[in-house]
Amino acid sequence: MLGAVAFHLASGSPGGAFEVALLHYVMDGLLLDLLGTSIEAGFDPDDVVVAFVSRLVGGRRPMTREGGVVELTPMTAEEFARRREPLVRSYAEAMVVDRGLAPDAALDRATTQLREQLPDGVDSAGALLRTARVGDAEVGWIWVALPGGPAGAHTAWLNNVEVHPGHRRQGYGRRMIQLIEAELAALGVPELGLNVFGSNTGAIHLYHSLGYRVAAQQMTKRISPAG
Ligand SMILES: CC(C)(COP(=O)(O)OP(=O)(O)OC[C@H]1O[C@@H](n2cnc3c(N)ncnc32)[C@H](O)[C@@H]1OP(=O)(O)O)[C@@H](O)C(=O)NCCC(=O)NCCS
Repeated sequence: MLGAVAFHLASGSPGGAFEVALLHYVMDGLLLDLLGTSIEAGFDPDDVVVAFVSRLVGGRRPMTREGGVVELTPMTAEEFARRREPLVRSYAEAMVVDRGLAPDAALDRATTQLREQLPDGVDSAGALLRTARVGDAEVGWIWVALPGGPAGAHTAWLNNVEVHPGHRRQGYGRRMIQLIEAELAALGVPELGLNVFGSNTGAIHLYHSLGYRVAAQQMTKRISPAG
């Protein structure tokens, strides 16, 4: 029977024998944490392992769980033009579902808001618009407003993150947010906030797992004269 190191090397694990051995020792610690008394680190073990392996084998750009390296590049004007219409539509649809707005009113409001937030498209002051790629494939995009807007002088705001439907559940959304957080931290921004519609359970899951916590909650109820 193959030893664990030989097995992983034969199956194409990244790194060499030393890295595989080190990973095994680390995994023993993780097992103890999962099965015994946890250190309550507050991180998803999957993410810790992925980041660890990535650093271990010298990768400068950490991998997603699936092994793809996500890169964020500044969004081009052409890419923005392509995304504008679907963004307005999906934002309007969410306002209909979550806030009970009439479809026309929702479309008007979404169009106005986007025009106000990005008056000069990708060149709008205080906006970070990034396209996410894995190799040659465009997998999604992300938009953050730098501090100084309605969120205050110290908080940046995640206005949108989107992974294209064919690329979801591969860890790309998580990685995109981590990359934009790193970009913001390098700029000296201490906090990133966001709004999420209550019906968007997938995104809520993702934000929770990344360490975001509820700071305020909006509640609505359909009411009628009968009570
Ligand atoms: C939300 C979104 C960006 C997530 O991107 P993604 O690449 O699929 O997310 P990830 O693969 O990184 O998911 C990480 C974790 O988030 C959670 N998650 C993501 N999508 C989920 C879903 N549909 N249902 C439940 N949990 C989900 C899971 O915990 C997941 O980890 P797991 O796959 O190990 O279970 C993507 O679904 C999307 O583009 N949705 C439409 C746009 C949108 O709603 N954006 C958010 C605006 S606030």
